[in-house]
Amino acid sequence: MNAHAGKHTADATTVEEGLAIAEEQDRQYTNEMATETAMANTLLTPRFYTTDFDELDAIDVSSVRTDWDALIAQMEADPNKGHFKKNEDWDHVDWENMEPQLKKEFIDFLISSCTAEFSGCVLYKEMKRRGNNKDITQLFQLMARDEARHAGFINDALREAGLRVNLGFLTQKKKYTYFRPKFIYYATYLSEKIGYARYITIYRHLEANPELRFHPIFKWFREWCNDEFSHGEAFALLMKTDPKLTSGRNVWWIKFFLTAVYATMYVRDHQRPAFHKALGVDPDWYAHEVFTKTSELSKQIFPITVDIDHPKWQTNLERLQKANVDLDAARKQGGVAGRMKALGAQARAARAFVSLYFIPAKGHQVPASTRMEPAY
Ligand SMILES: [Fe+2]
Ligand SMILES: [Fe+2]
Repeated sequence: MNAHAGKHTADATTVEEGLAIAEEQDRQYTNEMATETAMANTLLTPRFYTTDFDELDAIDVSSVRTDWDALIAQMEADPNKGHFKKNEDWDHVDWENMEPQLKKEFIDFLISSCTAEFSGCVLYKEMKRRGNNKDITQLFQLMARDEARHAGFINDALREAGLRVNLGFLTQKKKYTYFRPKFIYYATYLSEKIGYARYITIYRHLEANPELRFHPIFKWFREWCNDEFSHGEAFALLMKTDPKLTSGRNVWWIKFFLTAVYATMYVRDHQRPAFHKALGVDPDWYAHEVFTKTSELSKQIFPITVDIDHPKWQTNLERLQKANVDLDAARKQGGVAGRMKALGAQARAARAFVSLYFIPAKGHQVPASTRMEPAY
């Protein structure tokens, strides 16, 4: 009998334990379709990252010590231990009778979310494994613990639909993209904060409209997004230790990541019309709401926000999205005509992205202390 059999990732206190449980589950049950979907590496699917771990390990957090210790203490207290598993609040899901397009899009949403959660887990765990700096390894151990639980919980939900993302297989076989540490900070900080904003916006919307909650997993989003909020706080503190990261030429990089993360979300969400319709959420409203919250939060550390109310913002997001739809269709068509159309669509997407990028940003004063509490 394996020591990890019958245990749940939600109760794991370390990432190692969480992954051992997940591996045991991989052995018992796996699904090719879900794993293959998670393996995809396109501009719009979640990737796995690797970085210069020694540079990250060399960070000295003494300049933010008070805030750092408070954050670590809060994460060590582990308020969400045991939370990410089914309980009496988990309603029966009628997968059989779910409208086919909704089912397809919702499964795609779950697989993509599971992959994104697990992407954080493998990156954080690797940093913990390679580092010697106690502050850094401790933080990354705690964050990896949370992401393993999040990914494990989504796999629980997928299991009811006869699916499972094989996490052990992904770790070994999925392609890793190298990012310099500063790009990891910008990208990961933003993905944690936008993750918080996405989850809390859906949670609040369904709290007000419970009849639209077509799956129980949304009930777990509040505690879930609080984890992501803390992870974002940690990256804000890491960036705070080196003022160069958020000034000078790096501000152009920050603008690039803000634009890219927002645009990706917009295009990806518009690929799931039935999913948003079932939730009673207009994807344009949702995007604007999430961008507003994320921008408000990111003022804690970034000296600029992108101007999401500029007249060219929505227009070019729509152009980008339309180009992406055409690109998809052209690729499916294939042949010479398909390739020509694909080139045209790619050029239009690039133009739309450049237009988004060059919309003048809004500058503001960054506060002395980054520390924030979840307020939405
Ligand atoms: Fe997460
Ligand atoms: Fe996270």
